[in-house]
Amino acid sequence: MKDIILSLVAAALVIAPSARAQCPDYLDYSQQKHQPYSSGKYQLSYMRPEPACRTFNSSIVEDTIKDMESVIKDPDLYRLFQNSFPNSLDTAVKWKGVAANNSNEELTFLITGDINAMWLRDSANQMQSYLPLVTANSSLSSLASLYRGVINLQARYILEAPFCNSFQPPVESGIGPSKNQDTPDDFTPAVSTNIAFECKYELDSLAAFLELSTDYYEATNDIDFFRNFQWVDAINTIIATTESLLGGTYSSNGSVNTLPYTWQRTTTSATETLDNSGRGNPVQANTGLIRSAFRPSDDSTIYQLYIPANMMFSRYLDSASKIMANIGNQRNLANHMHNFSGRIRDAITKHAIVNHPTYGSIYAFEVDGYGSQNIMDDANIPSLLSAPFLGYLDQNDKVYQNTRKMILSKDNSYFMRGPVINAVGGPHAGYGQAWPMASIIRIFTTNDDQEIRNALQEIVSSTDGLGLIHESINSFDAHKWTRQWFSWANGLFGQCLLDLKARKPGVLGASFQ
Ligand SMILES: *[C@@H]1O[C@H](CO)[C@@H](O)[C@H](O)[C@H]1NC(C)=O
Ligand SMILES: *[C@@H]1O[C@H](CO)[C@@H](O)[C@H](O)[C@H]1NC(C)=O
Ligand SMILES: *[C@@H]1O[C@H](CO)[C@@H](O)[C@H](O)[C@H]1NC(C)=O
Ligand SMILES: *[C@@H]1O[C@H](CO)[C@@H](O)[C@H](O)[C@H]1NC(C)=O
Ligand SMILES: *[C@@H]1O[C@H](CO)[C@@H](O)[C@H](O)[C@H]1NC(C)=O
Repeated sequence: MKDIILSLVAAALVIAPSARAQCPDYLDYSQQKHQPYSSGKYQLSYMRPEPACRTFNSSIVEDTIKDMESVIKDPDLYRLFQNSFPNSLDTAVKWKGVAANNSNEELTFLITGDINAMWLRDSANQMQSYLPLVTANSSLSSLASLYRGVINLQARYILEAPFCNSFQPPVESGIGPSKNQDTPDDFTPAVSTNIAFECKYELDSLAAFLELSTDYYEATNDIDFFRNFQWVDAINTIIATTESLLGGTYSSNGSVNTLPYTWQRTTTSATETLDNSGRGNPVQANTGLIRSAFRPSDDSTIYQLYIPANMMFSRYLDSASKIMANIGNQRNLANHMHNFSGRIRDAITKHAIVNHPTYGSIYAFEVDGYGSQNIMDDANIPSLLSAPFLGYLDQNDKVYQNTRKMILSKDNSYFMRGPVINAVGGPHAGYGQAWPMASIIRIFTTNDDQEIRNALQEIVSSTDGLGLIHESINSFDAHKWTRQWFSWANGLFGQCLLDLKARKPGVLGASFQ
């Protein structure tokens, strides 16, 4: 909820273009119900803004929404799709333009939703919702152009501040920076608040750039794009940054190594700061795993060798190495990326597969290289549950299946159970708060029709009538939810139903009344 208060202040700083002066602030709009309600028993609100107030128009997205009406038979489930799938385009494309010093360099400032800042992780995932509809297209009004704009702006951000997780509008947009209402960060290396909104170093933020790049490349084969702007430089920065975080806490003679990144904040919440003067808990040397100070929930790690982000980074570093190889004159860098990816995979196998008394061999969530293991999963992606969704391993992988059974049981300390919704949560929203995002990933990672139907039933029945995917919902009380405007989770739900259309059309023909 803190995030919401923060964004109220942030939103007030944005100068609305005059054409949209009459448009309601979606922060408020998304908290009220709007007619016409869906015709099922949940009577879900219509949540799309008026056409004139939408932040990006795409005819292929509109066609897809219409097509799905005949596929999704349940009226409430269809309404949820209709509201959620276009949410990032409807509400979050805060600015789209070109770089001041290169009119061919497209830029897209894509905000997370209720906070007027662009997260590397969220924006990569927000774009991924539309990936099935992306084809090579040089038009400035295409989804491909939106993608290129996000890649170019992320490259700029990474070059400016590789340890930061969320960023301010580019100067070209004329939109002023938002103020982060939390206690100012005390961190090294310093970054201007005109550039970064927050500087929590999260390995998955850098992996997100590799994922975003891979997604665009595989959909379009547009290799020239990767040659023309700052993509190669951004990759070099990512490699240098992650390699600087391979080190342990102590050198071989016992001296304390200097860390390239430290972060502290005055706070009452342990997940909002790092102990040992901003350096975190000790990490063993030479594991081959990359440290992450924070998780994708923006909460600090307990053990910095955060496994889901290492999986994601390894998987997308390898696919990005293929882009690098095709660029032409970057063979050595491409080989280096491929090799680095393989070494991380080997390190995960060596350090993160642990023996659980009930489930046998499973993946640990976090380790420290000294033998300490954190056995749990958190809802945010990358999670252990999402490992096949990320393409790191096959869904039928034995260790994954053991891990999945543990995650979706009372033996995962952050699996929330109750009459409203049963799903993984996490410390970010707290005890009892289940995250629909984790239910969506559960659907993506199973072939069991009954498991899919149960998850869809819980999702469609727990929106408190608002017809949007919330960040978290109390597993005993559907009225207690967090974040009414969380674009990533909404897009992900749309992406999930498109995936079901291809994989399990029968489930979409079912009733959820
Ligand atoms: C989207 O289309 C509507 C008309 O249907 C228009 O009023 C609006 O300005 C368009 N939005 C953008 C960002 O171009
Ligand atoms: C263009 O401007 C951006 C942002 O100010 C900067 O990061 C980039 O290096 C510049 N590019 C060139 C080619 O000068
Ligand atoms: C490219 O995108 C534009 C805008 O969405 C669309 O009108 C056009 O049909 C697309 N072209 C191709 C070849 O898909
Ligand atoms: C201990 O190792 C560190 C890092 O290799 C080195 O900088 C330092 O000089 C060494 N100190 C001693 C006393 O050997
Ligand atoms: C990476 O390169 C090193 C040095 O050439 C080699 O010994 C190692 O086997 C490679 N690792 C992987 C996983 O490819």
